[in-house]
Amino acid sequence: MPRRERLSVVGVERVGEYALLRLVRGAIDPGLPGQFFMLEAPGRVLPRPLSLCLAPSSELHFLVDPIGPGTTALAELERGDAIHVYGPLGNGYDLTVPRPLLVGGGIGMAPLPYLAEALRFPPAILGFRTERHAEAAVLMPGAEVVVDPVFVTDVLPHGYDVLACGPEPMLQAMPAGAQLAWEAPMACGYGACYGCAVAIGGELKRLCVEGPVLVAA
Ligand SMILES: Cc1cc2nc3c(=O)[nH]c(=O)nc-3n(C[C@H](O)[C@H](O)[C@H](O)COP(=O)(O)OP(=O)(O)OC[C@H]3O[C@@H](n4cnc5c(N)ncnc54)[C@H](O)[C@@H]3O)c2cc1C
Ligand code: FES
Repeated sequence: MPRRERLSVVGVERVGEYALLRLVRGAIDPGLPGQFFMLEAPGRVLPRPLSLCLAPSSELHFLVDPIGPGTTALAELERGDAIHVYGPLGNGYDLTVPRPLLVGGGIGMAPLPYLAEALRFPPAILGFRTERHAEAAVLMPGAEVVVDPVFVTDVLPHGYDVLACGPEPMLQAMPAGAQLAWEAPMACGYGACYGCAVAIGGELKRLCVEGPVLVAA
């Protein structure tokens, strides 16, 4: 069940171009890999959706790409600060697949460390824009890492059950049956505002309740 709580910041660590935000877990359920949380972004009216990256005992970790005011405020939090967190929300990945292969592009790798743990570390491929972004692969030991101009689609093997998260062109290139975590700007996170409605496969979906993980047609 989702829950709203004010959680203390344990610390924020630089991971290449990203920031790993570590929060005290409190009584919040970490949920399933691929589910997300709405995090209060200091100084902003609306919270921001983030996937759970890792859930070591008594903590929740989020990998943040500081691309705008909300994510920058989250990346600049300090030990001792506290923010409201609501979740877990949405539908995560179906873990009952026989031959999982995890595929991440850029900040789309955020939910994969938690997913890798749940699936006992299956093969994984991560793609990044630069070597500096690729430093985040330290959170996914054993993953194959490619950097532009090589794309994950250039090295994708056949015969696996793909579970992916990344930029839209990467998701569009995944095989039918792949489980894909999509993104859209979200205001509420629980189905009330329709701000996250996107057309996928000719149908309008509210990603916060019907996704973010959807099976590719
Ligand atoms: C389910 C879900 C999980 C996510 N998980 C993570 C995560 O683990 N780590 C992380 O860093 N980010 C994640 N994001 C994306 C993150 O929520 C946005 O980057 C953030 O809300 C942007 O807020 P901002 O104030 O920093 O920038 P804004 O000024 O709000 O946005 C900067 C730019 O990005 C665009 N934008 C904003 N949000 C999105 C979005 N969701 N999809 C596509 N474009 C967008 C805006 O239109 C604008 O051009 C996730 C998004 C969703 C929906
Ligand atoms: S974010 Fe409000 S309906 Fe999805």
